[in-house]
Amino acid sequence: MPHGTLRAWVVGVVHVVQHPLVQAELTGLRCRSCPGPEFRQRLRRIAALMVPAVTADFETKVISCETPLEVTSGVEMTRRVILTPILRAGLGFLDGFFDLLPDAAIAHIGLARNEETLQPEPYYLKTPPTLADSEVIVIDPMLATGGSAVEAVKRLVELGATRLRYACLVASPEGIATFEDAWPEVPIFTAAIDRGLNDRGYILPGLGDAGDRLFGTA
Ligand code: PRP
Ligand code: URA
Repeated sequence: MPHGTLRAWVVGVVHVVQHPLVQAELTGLRCRSCPGPEFRQRLRRIAALMVPAVTADFETKVISCETPLEVTSGVEMTRRVILTPILRAGLGFLDGFFDLLPDAAIAHIGLARNEETLQPEPYYLKTPPTLADSEVIVIDPMLATGGSAVEAVKRLVELGATRLRYACLVASPEGIATFEDAWPEVPIFTAAIDRGLNDRGYILPGLGDAGDRLFGTA
């Protein structure tokens, strides 16, 4: 793969962002010795580096633009973007997306994974009113069993979202299979597909509990 270009390899509907900067940042934050401030910074940088791949097929329209010297033409995005972090850990992925998509609106969806049943328990939802006309990007660092991602998309579709994509940092094969089964038309973007899940639903090798590492709650 050539260096210096942002490449995403497509595996089915899963796009794996293989850029060396992404992979090096990911390796750094996987390490248990990576302290909280560094973990947050790395996650923010990875999120920003993933944005070109996640948005590569967004539609633009031609507009005219007046430079100080003459009138020329350029483009603007056709649709509004709505970033949807799954609380809490999704917040750690939000700033990097927001850096490159500053006009995006934010929908928040609160889902807590029950550590016994591994089922997502909804506790919060606040979305802008324009879901149907917008490009909705659901973001969460971890796709483990897939339950939270499936539930988040379900809620957004119930509220009218039609153009959805899902972006995460680390995905498990089990989570990908569950998500693709439920939402085959929603593309997944990830920086890594790991080996699998342990008996507590944690991704291996993974990076541990993303929310706890982000917010110091371990
Ligand atoms: C984590 C993670 C995902 C979810 C993934 O969140 O951020 O949202 O688990 O697991 P799943 O694919 O098996 O559903 P968690 O519910 O632990 O909450 P937190 O973000 O508040 O830590
Ligand atoms: N949530 C996390 O934060 N990490 C995992 O490995 C699985 C779920």
